[in-house]
Amino acid sequence: MCGIVAFTGTSSTVPVLLNGLRRLEYRGYDSAGLALQTRDGSLEILKRAGKVAELEQALEEAEDARPAENSGAQPADQSTSQPARCGRHTQGVTRNTIAEATTGIGHTRWATHGVPSEDNAHPQLDCSGSIAVVHNGIIENYAALRAELLERGHRFISQTDTEVVAHLIEEEYAAAHGDLVLAVRTTVARLSGSFALAVCHADEPGMLVVTRCDSPLVVGRTKNGAIAASDTPALIEYTREVYYLDDRDLAVLRENGSLQFFDPAGSAIFPTPVTIEWTLEDAERGGYPDFMLKEIHEQPRVIRDTIAGRYNADTRRISFDDVALSPRELKQIERVIIVACGTSYHAGLIGRDLMETWARVPVETAVASEFRYRNPLVTPATLVIAISQSGETADTLEAVKLARLAGAHVLAITNVVGSRITMEANTVLYIKAHLEIAVAATKSFLAQVALLTLFALYLSQERGQLESNVVSEIYAAMEQLPRQIDGILEDTGSIISCASECGDAQTALFIGRGVGATICYEGALKLKEISYVHAEAFSAGEIKHGPIALIDPEGLTDPRAQTPVVAMVCKSVTYDKMLSNIEEVLARGAKVIAVATAGDTRIAELTPHVISIPEVPECLSPLVASVPLQLFARHIALLHGANVDQPRNLAKSVTVE
Ligand code: G6P
Repeated sequence: MCGIVAFTGTSSTVPVLLNGLRRLEYRGYDSAGLALQTRDGSLEILKRAGKVAELEQALEEAEDARPAENSGAQPADQSTSQPARCGRHTQGVTRNTIAEATTGIGHTRWATHGVPSEDNAHPQLDCSGSIAVVHNGIIENYAALRAELLERGHRFISQTDTEVVAHLIEEEYAAAHGDLVLAVRTTVARLSGSFALAVCHADEPGMLVVTRCDSPLVVGRTKNGAIAASDTPALIEYTREVYYLDDRDLAVLRENGSLQFFDPAGSAIFPTPVTIEWTLEDAERGGYPDFMLKEIHEQPRVIRDTIAGRYNADTRRISFDDVALSPRELKQIERVIIVACGTSYHAGLIGRDLMETWARVPVETAVASEFRYRNPLVTPATLVIAISQSGETADTLEAVKLARLAGAHVLAITNVVGSRITMEANTVLYIKAHLEIAVAATKSFLAQVALLTLFALYLSQERGQLESNVVSEIYAAMEQLPRQIDGILEDTGSIISCASECGDAQTALFIGRGVGATICYEGALKLKEISYVHAEAFSAGEIKHGPIALIDPEGLTDPRAQTPVVAMVCKSVTYDKMLSNIEEVLARGAKVIAVATAGDTRIAELTPHVISIPEVPECLSPLVASVPLQLFARHIALLHGANVDQPRNLAKSVTVE
């Protein structure tokens, strides 16, 4: 939800900002902008609706413009409306500044207040155009603040909540007699909601002030300056040592690379740096056409890393030394509630079934956005498992806060070190997915499921519910998964041809039973997220109670009208029933794409469209069956010409409720 990058140093800021914005584009990509400090004490602003590429194009145009057009205060970019309407300090970006500016802030936006447009793009400015602000989050009291500011004569140009911040800093800066740090601190004290902010002032050369509350922000020192950003991919090229700020703390970055940190009362603080484990390679496509495909191909490695070190072959026991619950406390758990959103929620549904089956404890998986509004029953004997790849999802964080207040132990499963959820939970378990950039989650899902599988084994082992030979058999089967997934990735012919069969479909249904239904929920989500084809998943037993009406009978006589039905037919106790459900939809004109165990001859008699997966214990089937569905969705999306990494309207981390 919006990407922020800010740099001040002794080298040009524009390449650092652009690089950062490109790497943060997964956070939002409907508009982008920059503010650059010039040598003559003004700010130059460039903003564009659309992706970061539009901003780059505009910068190139400004660079190509003849010096005569670009000199002095003449804006190179006349269409940038906000600077033109603002005061003396602001102008459009010039060729000279692109080359010379060493301090600036940048933003890529996911719209919350106001449509994606140049006026609503960040940076937002105060009346004089001296102060530029970029923001991630939502200022919840912005309407009241705006009304006050209007009454005092401030002029607003955008529909954003962010603009109030620039005008408040303008007032506070005057009141603080030109102390920008104090002005930002007193402004922040008036804001409610969530925010990460980066601020620069035309009259404060080589200085940036950043702060945050419930939205992420990391700060680092580079070889030749200081940098702040919403997430580590923007910094990783320049530093591996980063600082995380607590809520409402401030950091001051200066061009000589100095960093100062202050708590909300204004006292200096000295946070400890954290080393980022990800490499630059993780942030690059590495020869793949898109991040999604790269991340799908990383899954064998991700499974290997996530399960490594969790099993002791001598004792034949699973170990979770990082769980801050004693064996006694694990036995005393009366109920487990899993909270999550989107793909993580689907991982939670799989975790629920495994935990109930093996540990014999009641488990519920709840959509985090609904959880806190339904007065849920949470007690100190409840274990709440919060799953979030990003560790930033606002709905999941709110559910965590509620659980903590109710006295429950909160176990977070996340991919991101230093993320918000790691600060709120009692126990943190990291999946080893490394950086995931494509908006639609793939490798993080598999890693979450693998970790939940191990945790379910652990819980049952500690509660005395599962024999050690069962644990060791399942773990041994998990060790085979990377090789089996590699096999799927090496032979994608049937997946591509099945996807091509569905290339023109407007709608697709997914059906399965038991864990097969959950795999279908995730498969349908992948398809709708990235291809915009309407896709719904149902428990196969339920289709005759309604959804079967969606199958177009025209398909009986015209193969082009056949409704695609993706059916999950893994070997299980419901296998025969599943075949009957497939017969039912075929009899009504559906085109069945079956995902089935290799060598299944009965399914081959029913449909020519079969995607084979290796034979695994049913409890591990999501870890193989989800992979072809990811590739299936990607291929259909590509047939539709969609950008699979940055699907429309979505963002990777949803930091607003
Ligand atoms: C967004 C993303 C989804 C993701 C969900 C939960 O909606 O588009 O892909 O599954 O957030 O994200 P989290 O980081 O909490 O797992």
